[in-house]
Amino acid sequence: MPSSPESPANAAISESAVDAAVEAALAAVAAASDTAALKAAKSAHAGESSPLASLNATLRDVPADQKAALGKLVGQARGRVAQAVAAREAELAEAEEHARLAAEAIDVTGIPPLRTAGARHPLTTLMEDMSDIFIAMGWEVDEGPELENDWFNFDALNFAPDHPARAMQDTFFIEPVDRHLILRTHTSPVQSRSMLSRGVPLYIVAPGRVYRTDELDATHTPVFHQMEGIAIDKGLTMAHLRGALEHLARALFGEGARIRLRPSYFPVTEPSAELDVWHPTFRDGPRWIEWGGCGMVNPNVLRSAGIDPEVYQGFAFGMGIERTLMFRNGVSDMRDMVEGDVRFSQQFGLVV
Ligand code: FA5
Ligand code: MG
Repeated sequence: MPSSPESPANAAISESAVDAAVEAALAAVAAASDTAALKAAKSAHAGESSPLASLNATLRDVPADQKAALGKLVGQARGRVAQAVAAREAELAEAEEHARLAAEAIDVTGIPPLRTAGARHPLTTLMEDMSDIFIAMGWEVDEGPELENDWFNFDALNFAPDHPARAMQDTFFIEPVDRHLILRTHTSPVQSRSMLSRGVPLYIVAPGRVYRTDELDATHTPVFHQMEGIAIDKGLTMAHLRGALEHLARALFGEGARIRLRPSYFPVTEPSAELDVWHPTFRDGPRWIEWGGCGMVNPNVLRSAGIDPEVYQGFAFGMGIERTLMFRNGVSDMRDMVEGDVRFSQQFGLVV
């Protein structure tokens, strides 16, 4: 026992022996700094083999005339020690409770770590803004699958099976190849899907994600977005196409925006044009930049959807959304758009 005093086994009971035992007991109790130490002191000074217990045991050898007085003395001594133990016990229990509560304390007035709200990606909100421009003119929004049948992605759009134009867009093929599934390389397959499901007249835009085996750099990404537009009605001409695109460019880039149609080739349209937009604040100085492709829907494409090209004509266009965001918001590196850092999105505001 750690604090066990010498047990005076043979010591005869006397006032001074009792006083000494009490003093030693009180000192040990006062020195106990936690309940475990107090328990040890209690057993050493108030237990069965404590000095006071031993002194008590010697009472039987005491002459009869002194028994009562010495018995009272040792009894009072044991009482004092028991009281001191109880008082110290209460003290320590209270101190330990205080310490525990202090350790568990929560500052309810403290400022909790802020969980910042996320932000919608500017490509998403831009696609919605672009769609809204057309919805305001009475067009509708359609969509198609990203995992697309190669017939819709190529054949229905007048890309013959061995036509070199298939190589214009580097394609992710899905195995097994005989299932004819690919990741769509453009939003143009929605043209055929909408013609088949909605019939004519048709005015739809179809924003969405497309895939090409392009390297990621400042102006290209292998996963990007396009918005397709197709209008089929009686008497549509290239002038309607130009008017729709000019309206879109002004609504997106401001009244001063200019567009240019450059003769080009796409199997889906005839005639076809590259759509350029004038970029007055381009980082290398004002210049024309390719925005998308467009043209009058090829009669073969109308026929593949059961539409008579003698009665109906159509125009179609498709432009890159990442490019649009670059021009409109001065984002110079497309990689910022794909990295998923919420701080990029937050610059565009908490749009809902
Ligand atoms: C097409 O995809 C045609 N389907 C467009 C079209 C639609 C023509 C309707 C006629 C009628 P093109 O491959 O040029 O065309 O792509 C169109 C636009 O997508 C490009 O001008 C560019 O803005 C964007 N784009 C193409 N490749 C990438 C890429 N790797 N990363 C980001 N944007 C791209
Ligand atoms: Mg192009």
